[in-house]
Parts: sequence; C-alpha cells; structure tokens
Amino acid sequence: MACFFRRRIAEKLGRTLQQSEDVFIPALTAIPVLKKQQSADFRLAIGPLRSGGVLPSSGDIQLQTENLAAQLKQDSVVEEISAACGMINFRVNRRLLAEKMLESFKNGENNTFGLDSELLKSFQRGTTLVEYSSPNIAKKFHAGHLRSTIIGNFIANLKESLGNRVVRMNYLGDWGMQFGLLGAGFSRFGSFEKLKQNPLQHLFEVYVQVNKEAERDEDINRAARDFFRQLEQHQAEAVSLWRQFREITVDEYRRVYERLGIRFDVYCGESFHQRGAHEVVEQLQGRGLLKTSEKGTGVVDLSPHGDMSSVCTLLRSDGTTLYITRDIAAAIDRKEKYHFDEMIYVTDKSQENHFHQLFQILLNMGHSWAKRCRHVPFGLVRGMKTRTGEVVFLEDVLDEARSRMLHNMSQSHTTKETEQPADTAEKVGMSALIVQDFKGPLLSDYKFDWDRMLQAQGDTGVFLQYTHARLCSLMRKNEGVDRESFDPSLLPEQAGVFILQHLLRYDEVLHHSAQDLQPRHLVTFLLKLCHLIASAHRELPVKGSPQDVAQARLRLFGAARSVLANGMRILGVSPVDKM
Ligand code: ARG
Repeated sequence: MACFFRRRIAEKLGRTLQQSEDVFIPALTAIPVLKKQQSADFRLAIGPLRSGGVLPSSGDIQLQTENLAAQLKQDSVVEEISAACGMINFRVNRRLLAEKMLESFKNGENNTFGLDSELLKSFQRGTTLVEYSSPNIAKKFHAGHLRSTIIGNFIANLKESLGNRVVRMNYLGDWGMQFGLLGAGFSRFGSFEKLKQNPLQHLFEVYVQVNKEAERDEDINRAARDFFRQLEQHQAEAVSLWRQFREITVDEYRRVYERLGIRFDVYCGESFHQRGAHEVVEQLQGRGLLKTSEKGTGVVDLSPHGDMSSVCTLLRSDGTTLYITRDIAAAIDRKEKYHFDEMIYVTDKSQENHFHQLFQILLNMGHSWAKRCRHVPFGLVRGMKTRTGEVVFLEDVLDEARSRMLHNMSQSHTTKETEQPADTAEKVGMSALIVQDFKGPLLSDYKFDWDRMLQAQGDTGVFLQYTHARLCSLMRKNEGVDRESFDPSLLPEQAGVFILQHLLRYDEVLHHSAQDLQPRHLVTFLLKLCHLIASAHRELPVKGSPQDVAQARLRLFGAARSVLANGMRILGVSPVDKM
C-alpha cells in the first residue's frame, strides 16, 4: 500500500529533521506517471514546508533542498534520494513496491484497497445526508435532473466508501400551484386507464395541455386555484387524487432509477413541509426576523448592514409559503430525524443563490449546523436529445443509450462475448454518459454528444468498460493458474512498474475528490489506469510465459482490474465482465 512507503519516508524525514513524522505524510505525493520512464516514486515539495513553518523559510530553497536530500540516508526500502527544483525525489525498492501493492489482492479482489489510508481519516464524519435527483411530478425530467442524479449518487458512494453512514434522499417537487393545474386538467383531459398504463407520460400530457388551455380559458385558472386551495385545506377528494399522482410517479421513478443502479433511502418532498413552513414563519416572527414588505409579503433581511438592500421572501401576501420556506422547514426536519453531521444538496448552478440564502437564514435562526450544509452546483448541458427528439423522461435517455450502444456492439469485431447484449449495452451506455459528464469541472457547461461519448477508443466510459471486460476475460482464460502466491521480483518491466506507481496515487485521488466533491480526479485516474493496462497487455503476455512469471503478471492484472472496478463503482458505473 502507498501508506507503507509514505510512512517509511516520513519517518526518515522526521528523524533527520527532529520533527514529528506526521507533518510529512500529507506533504508526500506519489509522482504521476508520465510517458517517459521515471525512476522516482514519491516527492516532497520543500516550498509548502517552508511556508508552513516546518522548515526554516530563510535562505536559498535550492540549497536547502540539496542539503536535506544529502542528509537523508538510503536504505533497503528507499533506495534512491535526489533533489531537483525544490523537490526531493524518492525511489523505493522495486521488488518491495510490487510486494506491498499487490499483497492484498490474494484472489484478484480487494474491495477496500486504499480506503484505510491515513490520508482519508479526516473524511469520516459520521452521517452524511445527500439530497439529489429531486424531479418535479408531472413536469419534464431534464438534463439538470439527470446530472443531479448521477453526481449525487457519486457523492453518496464516495462518502459511503470512506466509511460514513449515508442517507440518500430524493426531494420531489410534489407541491405548489402546478398541482392546482394538474387537478383541474385531470378532471377535463385525464384518464385513470392511461394513468395506470403510462403514468409519467400521461401526467405530463395532461399538464402540458392544461397549461395551454389556461392561457385562454379563465375558467381553468379558477378551477386550478380552487383545486389547490382544496389541497391546502386537506379536502379528502383533492388529496386522494394528488396522492395517486404522487404514488404512481414514485413507483415509476423507482423502477427507472433501478435501471441506473440507483436507489434512495428516503423519498420525501415539498408537500411534507407545509405545516413546518408555517411554523418557520411563526418562529421568525417571534424572533422579530420577519418583516412585512410594501407589497405585503413576509421577508427576511439578509443584507450585511441590515438596511433591507437584500431580502428573501418567505411568505406571499395571500399567506401561502414558497419553495425556500419549505426548504427551511425540510432542513430542520432532516436534522431532527437523521442527526446528520453534514448535508449536501446537488442542483444546477441557477440555484446557488437559493441555497446561499437558505443556509444564511438557518444560521440566523440559530442553527449552527447550517455551517456543515453544502450546495454542490453544476453547469448546464446543451443539446441532450434522442433520435426522436427532446428528452422528457429519464427513461428516454436510458433507452437511447442502450439502443445506440447495442448498435455499436453489433458493428464491432472484438465485442461479441456477452450473452445478455441488451443488459451489457445499457450498462456500457450509462458509463459512457457518466464519464462524459464527470470528465470536466462540474460547474462547467458542456455539449451532450452521443457519438463522442460512445467511442470505444479515447477517454470514454466505453473504454473503461472495455478494459474491464478484457481483464475479466484474461482471468477467465487463466483460471487454472494458482493465484495464492506470487514472486514480486518477477515484475521488473517498465509497463508493470507504471501500473504499480499509478496505484500508489489511488488514495490521493480519493482524497482530492472527497475534498472538493469533484468526480473528475477519479475519472482521470481510471482512464490513465486503462491506458497503462493496454500497454501492459501488449508487453507482459501471460500466455506462453513460464508458470511463475504468468502468476506474477496475473496478480498485477488482477489488482488493476479490482481497483478499476472499485473506482467505477464509486462513480456509479457497474463494471461488465463481458462485452
Ligand atoms: N425540484 C427542484 C427542481 O427541479 C429541485 C429541488 C432541489 N432541492 C431542494 N432542497 N430545493 O428544481
């Protein structure tokens, strides 16, 4: 494991500099593998240690680096120490590198590789509540909801694998004036028959139609207001219809999320917090924090100098509450129910200000835990379309990814192994979509491109899957080879060393992702791993090699496969065994 080497180097530094070795652990990084051969494995940057007060910050940094390097003694673990450009480079013993990195992959599998790293300890924070996906009933499931779904799932997976308890929550848009319209529309154009057959489709159709009619028919608007009032007053008939819409929608979403390999622990929604929202208003009134504006609305002053230059509306003049009022109530309710240590909201960046205000109001109300609430915003996706047109439902995207991938698979010569092509195509198609989405900074907008994301070569999710399937096939073909032991001195070739050096970085990469909650560090790591595996495949044949060499190489490929699969699962991609 990387930790073993980091600790050994840190000990050396601690002893020489008469400091606690722990300060050097985070300062040591595994050197990224580049094209040309590199002999060192770890480096220590002197600059940050000077500015951090660990080393004296006076004098020439170059000289200081060289002097320190000269003071450090080589040994059987750290074989070479050199200084260059304000860095000290360390090269570890090659045989030991193979032994330590591969020892835990006895049966070609280690699901917890890298997770016990001391670098990751600080990310175990107890209970994390992640709220994501959160579509609106009867409305379109747009690209923003898709992004929220996969990003939130990634964050939840990451937090869970780092050892946190995670509550996965879906906060449905299941309340508001849109239900007035839907209720009024359903009594005119709705059918229970169609609602059963294709609920999402039917509710959407009714909603679109009623909106159109409402533009020119005042009766409809009146009926909508009536229906919503009945709902707010909990009148049995209205509530029962609303409940049917909701239940049927949740059932349908559950089924579709399952296709994506996604599940939620809790489905809640805005409707749960009507009473809570009114209580919030009362509390704010009680504390003198709610002001009445000229328009008669209830507002909270969020300006830094208390001059009402920036306010947030919580109550309409007719006494009804708003989206943010319900969010305040929801947050308080979640804290009471789930005792989370941190809460993460995943939505597009247009809601940044909303969450900023939400957290500020919670703090003003005395809820100091709001400091541990975080909004993870993301950019817009342009041009997400299927062959038949716009994407309206989540399932449209899944179907399109599957059918395009099936087509590509039938065209390819290398991929004919699988017995369940549709299932494989769906998994591979989804990884393509996820990798495309996760490659850049989440905040950037990007253009959706089916052809590019589905390429088998190049940095795509298909390439990840293809590499994984190929490694599985290698393992299947060599089932007879004994996997219990291996000789670590039989992996001296550069192609193998590159893989081992790359695996040294895995815990650092998880550390980065845990810090900024960006999946791109992990995606880049896995794509690079696949490129290194492709070279190793060419240069380190298993077939035809002597038994002990074959054994060692299989251990290496097995470890690479396992780390690839672990990383893919954190991203939310299910690795396929055949393609
Ligand atoms: N349903 C909302 C929408 O589609 C997203 C909800 C985000 N979460 C929240 N707690 N406000 O825009």
